Amino acid sequence: MSSAAPSLRSVTARVPAKVNLELMVGPPRPDGFHNLATVFQAVGLHDDVSVEPAEDWGITINGPYAHLVPADGTNLALRAARLLAEEVGIDDPVHITIDKDIPVAAGMAGGSADAAGALLACDALWGVLSSKAVLEDLAAELGSDVPFALLGGTAMGSGRGDQLAPVLGRGRYTWVFALCDVGLSTPKVYAECDRLRAGLRVPEPTPSASMMTALRSGDAVALGRALSNDLQPAALSLLPRLEEVLRTGMNNGALGGIVSGSGPTVAFLVSDTERSLDLAVALTASGVAPSVKRAVGPVRGAHIITAASGPRGSFGSAGHDGPTGPAGHRSS
Ligand code: C5P
Repeated sequence: MSSAAPSLRSVTARVPAKVNLELMVGPPRPDGFHNLATVFQAVGLHDDVSVEPAEDWGITINGPYAHLVPADGTNLALRAARLLAEEVGIDDPVHITIDKDIPVAAGMAGGSADAAGALLACDALWGVLSSKAVLEDLAAELGSDVPFALLGGTAMGSGRGDQLAPVLGRGRYTWVFALCDVGLSTPKVYAECDRLRAGLRVPEPTPSASMMTALRSGDAVALGRALSNDLQPAALSLLPRLEEVLRTGMNNGALGGIVSGSGPTVAFLVSDTERSLDLAVALTASGVAPSVKRAVGPVRGAHIITAASGPRGSFGSAGHDGPTGPAGHRSS
């Protein structure tokens, strides 16, 4: 069927990156995944995902990382839009435009965030008004980190990381992210984790009391000490130079440092904005990090920032046919 005459011309959703404050990884499951006990925090690095009616399904990526993102049917945001269309029986193709600021293959769930943004934006564009539960189910189908990109804030993740419970914590935390000039593949990092732990008895993961206490009290020093990531040894094994990044951050005022998710981004917690500037300078001046980003967390999950109304029929009126700039990467 076709949607019930939506009057929106384009919708833009803003979606956050994440860092795992704690990432406990269990033994490999028969389906190839691992049970996790993790604490996600959404941080203020964002992609903007816009959708508009089009003659055909397509996607354009803008920004410095555009060349690293597939602009074809394998793109997770495009898959998300098509999955929702199929689920609700809509046959109205959209063109997706992603203004990308979240680093790619960096352990910050940028692809998952884009998928969450596409679900939310298409849901609004088509006037579907899906329940939260339906969007969450579709999100989990698309990837382990997609439900959290919808939820945002700070949350405990179990199962594959897709079963979420919000953490009622205090505090606003200041982060410095040391980026890497190469990406790490998430499946390869999990496989390396399994290889490093071969022959060891790996228990089912359980969240730590120290993390929950730190978050409840809003104590950044305690949180810095409680940061932990079972994937970190694997990321360091695949990319040993991350050791120096961690050392440099800890020697320059960080309260804690950790590989973010499956890496290779290294996340440092600092006490305030001034320290974040000092650390950003130290990391770049020492040459250990080709680029650095600063952000605060927690921030909210995927949300609509613009919904432009207007007559349909002039496909591309909201940027579809506009210039993508030198970094634009597009296909349909
Ligand atoms: O769910 P997602 O597509 O993000 O997962 C990417 C890959 O990361 C999986 O194919 C799997 O190799 C690994 N993974 C895992 N256990 C998880 C989450 C991801 O082994 N809980």
